Amino acid sequence: MESLKKLKIEASILNADYLHLGDEIKRAVDAGADFIHLDVMDGNFVPEITFGQTMIKHIIKHSDIPVHAHLMIQNTDEQLPSYIKTGADLIIIHAESSRQMYRCLQLIKNNNIKAGLALNPATPISYIENVLELLDYILIMTVEPGFGGQLLIESMLLKIKNALRIIEEYGKKTGKIISCDIGVDGGINEQTIKKVVNAGANIIILGTALYNSNEPAKVVSNIRKTAENTLII
Ligand code: DX5
Ligand code: ZN
Repeated sequence: MESLKKLKIEASILNADYLHLGDEIKRAVDAGADFIHLDVMDGNFVPEITFGQTMIKHIIKHSDIPVHAHLMIQNTDEQLPSYIKTGADLIIIHAESSRQMYRCLQLIKNNNIKAGLALNPATPISYIENVLELLDYILIMTVEPGFGGQLLIESMLLKIKNALRIIEEYGKKTGKIISCDIGVDGGINEQTIKKVVNAGANIIILGTALYNSNEPAKVVSNIRKTAENTLII
């Protein structure tokens, strides 16, 4: 299957210098990132804590590009309304942390925010079937969430392909065209980009590949070039 969507890059600030966040965000923008990706961690859904609603609001003020909030929190159903108020352009919530996913996605959409659904590696891709009509974005976790700098789990490549298949089948069965982005989060770098683009991902999250580099613009442009030259099969 050929992906018609242009590759977009999200800069995850998880491994940035938090005491100089304004500069770090500028670094990602100057490097050519399309979006800022904020990893919200609550020390419960994942072991560590990063930041929450207040910090997101501040970051949005300092970012010239759209901000996506990836909520790795235990109690999505209860906390979602306060994240909706932050002004994030897209909110990604986890299948494993919501008891009422349909309602949560509806709430995001009703507030004119793009809705994303993230799936941990062991969560079956079939989960998307019953909420597909509400999704703008599916985030396939290509590592267990919680930390930057991990290795991409190769079996997630098949999961990306299966997501595209489900979207295509849904379109055929219902006559509705679903324009849903497929993002991949974790372990993406100049070595692994080809594999995920080949599988069908059109949004990639870059954490350590970007922030551990002295030449982030070069990383972004190399990744874009590789993606453009990658034939999707
Ligand atoms: C992991 C986070 C990722 C992480 C990616 O839980 O959701 O966004 O920052 O980092 P890298 O690119 O280093 O795998
Ligand atoms: Zn993330």
